[in-house]
Amino acid sequence: MSYDLVIKGGTIAFPAGLTRADLAVRGETIAALGSDLEGRETIDASGKLVLPGAIDVHTHFQLPFCGTVSADDFANGSKAAALGGVTTFIDFAIQAKGSPISDAIVKRRAEADGQVCVDYGLHAAITEWNAAREAEIGPLIAAGIPTFKMFMIYKSQGWQSTDADLFCALRETARHGGMVGVHAESDDLINLFQAEAEREGLKGAYTHAVTRPAVTESEAVARAINIAEAAGGTLYIVHLSTGASVAQVEEGMMRGVDVHAETGPHYLLLDDELFKRADGHHFATCPPIRKPADQERLWEGLATGAVEVLATDTCTFTRGQKAMWQGDYRKIPMGMPGIELLLPLTYSKGVGEGRFDLGDMLALLCENPARLFGLWPRKGVLQVGSDADIVLFDPEMQVTISHRDLATNCDYNPFEGTRVTGWPVTTLLRGRPVVRDRRFVGQAGQGRFIPREPMGFFEEG
Ligand code: URP
Ligand code: ZN
Ligand code: ZN
Repeated sequence: MSYDLVIKGGTIAFPAGLTRADLAVRGETIAALGSDLEGRETIDASGKLVLPGAIDVHTHFQLPFCGTVSADDFANGSKAAALGGVTTFIDFAIQAKGSPISDAIVKRRAEADGQVCVDYGLHAAITEWNAAREAEIGPLIAAGIPTFKMFMIYKSQGWQSTDADLFCALRETARHGGMVGVHAESDDLINLFQAEAEREGLKGAYTHAVTRPAVTESEAVARAINIAEAAGGTLYIVHLSTGASVAQVEEGMMRGVDVHAETGPHYLLLDDELFKRADGHHFATCPPIRKPADQERLWEGLATGAVEVLATDTCTFTRGQKAMWQGDYRKIPMGMPGIELLLPLTYSKGVGEGRFDLGDMLALLCENPARLFGLWPRKGVLQVGSDADIVLFDPEMQVTISHRDLATNCDYNPFEGTRVTGWPVTTLLRGRPVVRDRRFVGQAGQGRFIPREPMGFFEEG
């Protein structure tokens, strides 16, 4: 039997281990795994790992934020994703207070559809809670938006939720199989420490770290977990950054709370000494990058299972945009580029440096995000019937990271000069190449909005 495409001679990465086999595609899905498969087209994958496309569940493309708009739009951000071996990302539609959440979804889809070259989904970010918002939850989940986001900070953006809002949202989403993600930082404590810094005349980039010590996150994480325990919903803590928070998540899990957590490569690999550099403001994001001891505890959290997902929180600002800070840490546009390096950094620093194995990497970048975010088994695994979202990964390729070689619109990179071993060379989206031999061959509009399933929809598979 002939297939549309056969990937021949590669080493296929399954959650259970590695196998030398051919992989055949028919239409948009994986049709067969085996030996001596024939297709109208073949791709030679000898010497390459054949991986499922990575899933980045946390991006902010063209986000109006901190007085500017993040610099990677959906077209360019998704191109960077494809070049980095990410075939699905999930961005945010942030509700405008007083308007339906569904309006924000419609607006965000109008920005993304027709622009993206890989598949994407949207989380609904809720900025107020009342009877009208509550009534939207069930229909949104039924329409393929099963994940929500609430911010415990960002009052000035108009995004902050109260503890009561969070309780109600967890309780309501639980009724429909939804999950609530939270940005967990304590607004009260940050305000206190910022006022103290003001009195001491502190303003430099390092003040971002000083005014957001670990407790400003771990207190909020503990509070969110307690609220989820009482409300009974599913809680997902985004961008976990401290060791103390890892301990809070582990304790919550042991008590039986349905809590999940994510961290990102920047929290695992960068520390707050960077804020002392002349370009320290380039590294500012919320929560801030932390201490080496926090990094170690986060790596440990990946091993204990407390941290189940790696995602980037991509929110790109150029040097020019970052310069808006004018020496005052409170005015820095908060965020960094990330999506293009998620897979190479995770492979090189995680698998390559022996911190975990390839199966663990697949869990963190593919299987866990797919299962938690309602994409399994359509995405996140190479099995017959799944979308043919496939990455050919050269485990030997050595690359020194430079913003000049990356697709992101960012004109610096937080990992500038870092040497990595292993790089994605070819990316297929639903069977069609988006990247071939590190060259972008995709098209705007090749990607689609993917409606996702509620929690527990695929218990097995
Ligand atoms: O500083 C950050 N992380 N910017 C993006 C918005 C958010 O909090 O995730
Ligand atoms: Zn956040
Ligand atoms: Zn974010």
